[in-house]
Amino acid sequence: MKFFIDTANIEEIKEAEAMGILDGVTTNPSLMAKEGITGEENVNKHYQDICKIVDGHISAEVIATDLEGMLKEGKKLASLHPNIVVKVPATANGIKAIKKFSAEGIKTNCTLVFSTGQAILAAKAGATYVSPFIGRIDDMNYDGLEIIEQMVQVYANYNFDTEILGASIRNVKHIIECAEVGVDVVTSPLKPLKGLLNHPLTDIGLEKFLADHKKAQK
Ligand code: G3P
Repeated sequence: MKFFIDTANIEEIKEAEAMGILDGVTTNPSLMAKEGITGEENVNKHYQDICKIVDGHISAEVIATDLEGMLKEGKKLASLHPNIVVKVPATANGIKAIKKFSAEGIKTNCTLVFSTGQAILAAKAGATYVSPFIGRIDDMNYDGLEIIEQMVQVYANYNFDTEILGASIRNVKHIIECAEVGVDVVTSPLKPLKGLLNHPLTDIGLEKFLADHKKAQK
């Protein structure tokens, strides 16, 4: 199971990298905007800065929605660093772009995926990753996990190479549930990622071990 961090914040990326368990980074236009990164030059530099911190796949999303624009932007993004994965939305043009990128050896992440049908088309087009948005599905009163479970089963039926990347993670439970159904990657904000370690019995147990050790030294 791979862990990506879902942020464009450099400090958070550094903190997750320092944990020693990070395999990659995902960003999106909202996350870039949140960091105040605007303008093509600054955005591209930011991706390159992230690539210097983490030695793994870094998703960089196209803004264009037309095929020609997606191809142009995607090629430019892919040329920034060998670890860049071009993030493309699950639209008709997006699927065509993924097919073309895949034929040219450019890695892709099909994003904004909310159904198994979209995930099948992404895999058929040769996407490197497919990103179902578990939290946003839950927000609509559907069961995000159920859809991800179905995707895992369908991908296994056909031995699709595309990796399932659980996205829109909101809490520790989402991460564990993704692991339970066997997704390949989870991309999480820093808080749930760090939250995996939290357990009061660990804290209480450690406190007791240290107190006993101290007593025994007297
Ligand atoms: O990777 C996609 C993710 O950033 C979306 O998360 O919390 O905005 O639904 P969220």
